[in-house]
Amino acid sequence: MSENLIEQHLKALSLHRINETYKIEAENAAKAKIGYQDYLQRLLEIEIISKIERSINRKMQIAGFPQIKKLEEFDFSYQPKINEKLIRELSSLNFLEEAKNILFVGAPGVGKTHLAISLGVKAVHERKRVMFFTAENLTLQLASAEVSGNLNRTLESLSRVDLIIIDELGYLSLTKQTAKLFFQLISKRYESGSIIITTNKPFEEWGEIFNDDIVASAILDRLLHHSYPFLINGKSFRMKNIVKNN
Ligand SMILES: Nc1ncnc2c1ncn2[C@@H]1O[C@H](COP(=O)(O)OP(=O)(O)O)[C@@H](O)[C@H]1O
Ligand SMILES: [Mg+2]
Repeated sequence: MSENLIEQHLKALSLHRINETYKIEAENAAKAKIGYQDYLQRLLEIEIISKIERSINRKMQIAGFPQIKKLEEFDFSYQPKINEKLIRELSSLNFLEEAKNILFVGAPGVGKTHLAISLGVKAVHERKRVMFFTAENLTLQLASAEVSGNLNRTLESLSRVDLIIIDELGYLSLTKQTAKLFFQLISKRYESGSIIITTNKPFEEWGEIFNDDIVASAILDRLLHHSYPFLINGKSFRMKNIVKNN
């Protein structure tokens, strides 16, 4: 078989990585006296690894994390009120199978977004579909979907995502109308898909976020029913060096 035909077939089968490497791997196999089956096995493994990497990269792009944060970079000794053991358990991602939610509540700088992103990144590495939004952004997207008559389709597609992260809920208040859209999303995912929320507002003040106590308590009810709430009342990490230098 000519190389040209091999390359055409590999292309037709979308085995791009094998296409790039089969010649050099064949030379290496000949030098190392590796048999046909082992050579084939190696090529297949190379292709699988490359396909997994590409799928993870695509999922990372879709997730839209504002930065990449890792749990390994999180200094738990700086925030001793956080239940480290529980966070580590959550990083095994069982909460996704159980459609449980995670809420990080606390003042600015205590690491809420860091923890949320870390869990999201971990989920992408396990090939889950994740989407990161700021509360403001999500609200805008829901509102514009409603205006253009696409609300149901948008809610449907959001309900197929394995994990939705909503960051910075509470920095801006929602109107009564957008609060209802937010409620629809939370209802749609209730007991079917996980949400991670970060907020600076304690639950008692959520009526202010949504401009409506009844909608706020309906949202909280569903979010908290199967959830892991973390109330983080430690020092801001952003102040760490400032405090040290004084
Ligand atoms: N305990 C921690 N260990 C390491 N880095 C931290 C810790 N807490 C916060 N940070 C870092 O400090 C900055 C602010 O944290 P962030 O998660 O954005 O806070 P929040 O969302 O609570 O306002 C980020 O760069 C984050 O990575
Ligand atoms: Mg934050």
